[in-house]
Amino acid sequence: MSYQTILVEIKNRVGFVTLNRPAVLNALNDQMIDELGQALVEFDANEQVSVVLLMGGEKAFAAGADITAMASCSFAEVFKSNLISRNWDIIKAIRKPIIAAVSGFALGGGCELVMMCDIVVASETAKFGQPEVKLGILPGAGGTQRLPRAVGKAKAMDFCLTGRLFSAEEAERIGLVSRVFPDDKYLEEAFEIAKQIAQYSLPALLMIKESINRAYETSLNEGLIFERRLFHSAFAMEDQKEGMQAFIEKRKPLFRGC
Ligand code: CAA
Repeated sequence: MSYQTILVEIKNRVGFVTLNRPAVLNALNDQMIDELGQALVEFDANEQVSVVLLMGGEKAFAAGADITAMASCSFAEVFKSNLISRNWDIIKAIRKPIIAAVSGFALGGGCELVMMCDIVVASETAKFGQPEVKLGILPGAGGTQRLPRAVGKAKAMDFCLTGRLFSAEEAERIGLVSRVFPDDKYLEEAFEIAKQIAQYSLPALLMIKESINRAYETSLNEGLIFERRLFHSAFAMEDQKEGMQAFIEKRKPLFRGC
């Protein structure tokens, strides 16, 4: 598959997607989100891929939804075309873990895209924010919903109501970012994390992602039952036998994804 707005590659069971509209700081237009969705769906189905690594450029992961493309849209147009939901919702259906590697700006839809990923690695100088209020609108790709779940109400209100940008250090401190690395190392480190994850049992990875995501959708008791049933199911896998036998024999396990 060839794409115009993203680059894709597979290395060491890691599927790379690079957002690639540097002239507009990776502003997320419809085509880019369509292509991103297609690439993610392909990686999700590809037996050679266990983990996805999503990145942008040095100056911007993504500076938000494409303002130029939507500035003159009417209510009827955005409503009829189901702007945002139409193609963004594909991302949340991806079952394999997605790591976001963030450098530069992750603003508006860029920050919301980061929050749709599962692990977030940032460079020290990365900048996050939900500046939609400065445009006379509000976040539209989950910012008002995922941000409070990730960082709590007080911080989410602060970010969305003031539109102020915040640093990678603050983002890590409040739980939006998993790990921060020096600018010249963050990509390499993100790849190391991806490679580490990719060597584990793929069904176990899928179960972990599905179970953690359940924590957002259900009561604690329902979530615990869901987790327990998946935990029991894991004992039907060869990978469970291999993982535990390898521990007992003090050797490295060789997972086959079954
Ligand atoms: N949409 C369209 N174009 C954008 C863009 C965006 N979100 N962000 C940057 N660009 C373009 C600029 O227009 C500029 O293009 P030209 O060279 O043709 O003028 C180019 O990218 C470089 O940008 P700047 O010259 O502005 O670069 P800077 O370093 O001076 O500033 C910045 C960087 C602070 C990120 C600034 O570009 C900016 O504030 N961008 C907009 C951020 C924003 O408001 N994002 C939210 C968008 S709305 C949204 O995302 C809704 C949602 O919830 C889904």
